[in-house]
Amino acid sequence: MLGPRQFVNPFVSSHLHAMATLFDNRCESVIDLSIGAPSRDMMPISMMAAACHTALSCEDAWHSFQYGPESGDHAFREELAVLLSTQILNLDSDQHTPVQSHTLACTSGASQSLANLLSLLTHPIYTTHVFLQSPTYHLVFQMIKDRGFDQKQLIAVPEDADGIKIEWLQKQLDELQIGESSRHPRFYNAVLYTVPTYSNPSSTILSPERRLQLVELARRHNLLVICDDVYDMLYYDTTIRPPPSLISYDLNDIQSRPGRGNVISNGTFSKILAPGTRCGWIQARPELINLITESGVYVSGGSPAHFVSKMIHEALKNGSLSKHIKDSRSVLHDRLVNGLSKPIDNLLLPLGCSYCKPRGGYFVWLKLPKSISSIRLQNTIEKHKINVSCGYGYKFAVPSEGDIESKLDIGRHIRLCFAYYNTSDLNTAVGYLHQAIQLCIDEADEECN
Ligand SMILES: Cc1ncc(COP(=O)(O)O)c(C=O)c1O
Repeated sequence: MLGPRQFVNPFVSSHLHAMATLFDNRCESVIDLSIGAPSRDMMPISMMAAACHTALSCEDAWHSFQYGPESGDHAFREELAVLLSTQILNLDSDQHTPVQSHTLACTSGASQSLANLLSLLTHPIYTTHVFLQSPTYHLVFQMIKDRGFDQKQLIAVPEDADGIKIEWLQKQLDELQIGESSRHPRFYNAVLYTVPTYSNPSSTILSPERRLQLVELARRHNLLVICDDVYDMLYYDTTIRPPPSLISYDLNDIQSRPGRGNVISNGTFSKILAPGTRCGWIQARPELINLITESGVYVSGGSPAHFVSKMIHEALKNGSLSKHIKDSRSVLHDRLVNGLSKPIDNLLLPLGCSYCKPRGGYFVWLKLPKSISSIRLQNTIEKHKINVSCGYGYKFAVPSEGDIESKLDIGRHIRLCFAYYNTSDLNTAVGYLHQAIQLCIDEADEECN
């Protein structure tokens, strides 16, 4: 997914065939903070070897090799429901009911699932607009384009420290006259793509009040809200757990307000186990789950990640995955604090950078000093061959006609991932960034004089 990739023509080069991972074609000496994946030492190899051994030694091991049920293996979904209830919902204090397995279906990861949801539930004619949290996870733009949406249909929804601005969205939906009655029995009138918890790239969290408002708004406008809930379990402050995922709000009143609902939670094992598993899940109202799992692709292929979900099921059942998630939180928290925050506070804040310390997830969203854009920083890094790279802010701006001011502001940020490198490498990277930002400041000063 994530790092910068050079285009290699597969017809004239065997290079792609020799790659062992998606990141192999990057330069070894460059510390690339744009990579949003767990590091090699975080991969729980022996844990999964044990889980696979158990799963494949049991009497009905052959089940794992057969087509799986459309919505996913029952035992897997039962254990997944327990994981989600304990890791995401705070059952002592939350008003939300525990996750139930019939609200879940297995997927082959968040990316493939998002493309599938867009294909099944949206249509560039009936679904007139695609709203996107802004800044947004940049790799969804291509998927939206692949579905046939035009750039003119994209609308960036601004956010503040409490997540996307609901009043702003409300105004847009009213102005565009996106009404409650659906134009098509299957396709929603509009779609919103969002990462409500520890957003990629800005790490913001949508407040509980806004979650409630968003669900109500979605219902009034036949809006489908697709939430990439991929970082929810990675919270670093155990005293402030993130609010329950948006889907819990849509499920709460299912008895009094039946129907297929307006929210889908799109989850993945990529960040809490390993991206190579290509396994994830969706959570939605049962009516919507049925609609999705009765679609052609599920009926033809069965559960999209059946074999691997059976292996993960063992790791869920014996508790090792929960422990691994807890251990990952502690590794990531250490990398955030000692790898990035401390050197940023010491070296980059004095240069005029600023940021909000994330409370979870993978990223620091750093604002560059005034007058420095991420494009300028990128050019400087490349010109002076400084051994660092990062997520340059302009890439996360929604490619719509929208507000130039906000695009400029997004372009003055960089996204720094603290999951892929150890503390020492992260320290070194911040040193390189210091050097590059200082060069940009000097250049900008010279231009003014
Ligand atoms: C918000 C978001 N959605 C989806 C993905 C990709 O998830 P998956 O590996 O399950 O396809 C990522 C990975 O960076 C992400 O940050």
